[in-house]
Amino acid sequence: MAGKALLKNILPPRQLAGEIRVPGDKSISHRALILNSLAAGESQITNLSPGKDCLSTFQCLKALGVKAARQQDNSTTVSINGTGNRGLTEADNVLNAGNSGTTIRLLAGILAAQPFLSVLTGDRSLRSRPMKRLIEPLTAMGAEIHGRDNDSLAPLVIKGKKLHGIEYILKVPSAQIKSAILLAGLFASSGETVIKQVQASRDHTERMLKLMGAELHTKDKVISLRHLKTPLNPVNLHIPGDISSAAYWLVAGAIHPDADIKIINCGINPTRTGIIDVLMAMGARLTINNRRISGNEPVADLHVESSRLKGITIGGELIPRLIDEIPLLAVAACVAEGKTVIKDAGELRVKESDRIASTIKELRRLGAGIEELPDGMVIQGGTRLAGNAVQSHGDHRLAMSLAVAGLVARGKTSIQNADAVEISNPNFWRELGQLTRG
Ligand code: S3P
Repeated sequence: MAGKALLKNILPPRQLAGEIRVPGDKSISHRALILNSLAAGESQITNLSPGKDCLSTFQCLKALGVKAARQQDNSTTVSINGTGNRGLTEADNVLNAGNSGTTIRLLAGILAAQPFLSVLTGDRSLRSRPMKRLIEPLTAMGAEIHGRDNDSLAPLVIKGKKLHGIEYILKVPSAQIKSAILLAGLFASSGETVIKQVQASRDHTERMLKLMGAELHTKDKVISLRHLKTPLNPVNLHIPGDISSAAYWLVAGAIHPDADIKIINCGINPTRTGIIDVLMAMGARLTINNRRISGNEPVADLHVESSRLKGITIGGELIPRLIDEIPLLAVAACVAEGKTVIKDAGELRVKESDRIASTIKELRRLGAGIEELPDGMVIQGGTRLAGNAVQSHGDHRLAMSLAVAGLVARGKTSIQNADAVEISNPNFWRELGQLTRG
């Protein structure tokens, strides 16, 4: 669990206004660290996510023999001297992924193919999250991975093996599992790896692998990758702002009665912009400006103003494009006119908390009219939320969603275990201070 005892009190401000930059994208930062560590040569990453999750990846890579350094403590600039194809070395202790699903799953894909033993663990939340979905395809590639509870939970013990490519139908729309298979496929000693996705998920791994010279092709939802014959080329990257962090200010701006917020330099990869599409469909006054490409990722500036939102149904292919924003969209739905239905989102139950149960429990404390579905929730909008004591459940995204609810709730909202935000955005409270007027 990330959250300790920090209690944050939120009062609704008179106005929310200003121009901010959110930290570098967490998903892209993990991949920039991992892939540059495997490349042959030096690279520099700037605007790396300062969240604890990416620090977990950084520390695990160092424990595996990667020479990497931050410019200073807490700096978001990192230099990496990649080890090349076969340069990782056995860690002399258990690798700790902390709260980070991306760290444990992506590293498992690589470690399955290394000629040594690795043990990967994490915090209590991560040790309760499903790993069978990871172990199954990697085992089909020839990996030997064991875990608690009949090979379904971390800690994971990985005995590196010679792997071979596979053709795999990926039923869960999980970029973490997709990426683990691709990383294992890079190091496979034979064959091509083909992943047929039932639903598309974020494609940062595919984009970065292409940028670094891997033979990877995507057609419709099918990805084919040839194992590496020569090492990846290192790339210097400036990580775009994290749309999943910007999302809190997009919703805050849309639901607050006096708001005008600009977010500069934000990633707008189409596999991540479900939040923008849904807010626009709900009636948000939101514009995307200065579109550009950086490091094979689309980037833009975003502008949101106070809006009158209306309820909507969210499901199907949209869900993987906004999976991390659902607790926040539930807040927007409380304020919107009419009913919002969120369905096909059963994956939320296996995130950092059971995000269906935890979101409903906490928003009800603020007076929300919200009912649970096995795979989502139904929210009756048009509620003026009322401040109360709420709990983050050690889940960063819930802590930040509750803070946004507090910006429009009557009276004081007190968030317990509020330091959970450090997992993805340690600057969150400072950004809130920057935008708050009166
Ligand atoms: C992530 C993928 C998603 C997302 C998580 C980050 C990634 O998880 O929820 O926050 O960086 O690949 P799943 O792949 O398990 O859906």
